[in-house]
Amino acid sequence: MQESILHMLREQPGGFVSGEAMCQACGVSRTAIWKHIKELQDAGYEIEAVRNKGYRLVQSPDLVTASEIRDGLRTSLLGQSIVYHETIDSTNTMAQKLALNGAPEGTLVIADEQTAGRGRRGRNWFSPPHSGVWMSLILRPQLPVAHAAQITLVTAVAMARALTRLTGVEAGIKWPNDILFDKRKCCGILTEMHAEFDQVHHLVLGIGINVNVPQEQFPEELQSIATSLQGVKGVPIPRAEVVRAVMEELEPLYRRYVDGGGFASIREDWKRSNITLGRQIVAQTARGPITGEALDIDEFGVLLVRREDGETEKIYSADILF
Ligand code: BTN
Repeated sequence: MQESILHMLREQPGGFVSGEAMCQACGVSRTAIWKHIKELQDAGYEIEAVRNKGYRLVQSPDLVTASEIRDGLRTSLLGQSIVYHETIDSTNTMAQKLALNGAPEGTLVIADEQTAGRGRRGRNWFSPPHSGVWMSLILRPQLPVAHAAQITLVTAVAMARALTRLTGVEAGIKWPNDILFDKRKCCGILTEMHAEFDQVHHLVLGIGINVNVPQEQFPEELQSIATSLQGVKGVPIPRAEVVRAVMEELEPLYRRYVDGGGFASIREDWKRSNITLGRQIVAQTARGPITGEALDIDEFGVLLVRREDGETEKIYSADILF
């Protein structure tokens, strides 16, 4: 009901919607409409009520609730089902549970705050309330296990595009999962897999974006390496808009990838948005550090590094320093 009321108000930007029109559209009494308006106001929506004119949406709070995301979302797979929590330990953990219980492909799990946000390699992910996008998508691609990591690369392309569009500043991909603005990270991707034999059952694609995190709020150890979209653009960005942009960029790339194109069909797009190739890097792998020049990425998404002794190494998984 509240979602319908909000939708009607948003369709008249700056204008009034009469109580009568709302009653008719929702099939309830004026008192019921007033009660819902009151609840929306309590949730932070600034709604003006004027006798004989009706209601006018003056300002929306920066929420990532299902209703804020859904209105205006132009996808047909991603985010068709949305699970919102104000506070949660980790959206990835919740998405894993929901996926095991049969949640459909494209389900979005999102929270205002995470109390135990997870990063790659067992690290924590700083996830304060009211200022970031902490979300996980459930995907069910028909993939061999060896290809699952490519989803992170496909997502990175979508992220770089979405964040560039939202800020007007070029975002770059650091292989495999970081999106940076001028060497500072504003987004990380954590893909987790549930598989059996050689077949992927489902993937949970976790995305963390520092949207309106004030720079001074980052913990000491992140101060010099993290940034947020607000820091880059200079003004806050509504988080629901960020979520929609990400899903709208990701959906066509994901479809191209799973409908037979594979990573080879995304590779050139990845190269255009990357800031890894051509650099001197240190790849911290499970086998130890590998130093050299990041030469290329192959059709499977594997990073090729020319070591100082001239040998070329294939890097399947690593943290990259440059
Ligand atoms: C990284 O760069 O190390 C990956 C960070 C991924 C963070 C996101 S936030 C939403 C989702 N839930 C988690 O617990 N982690 C991912």
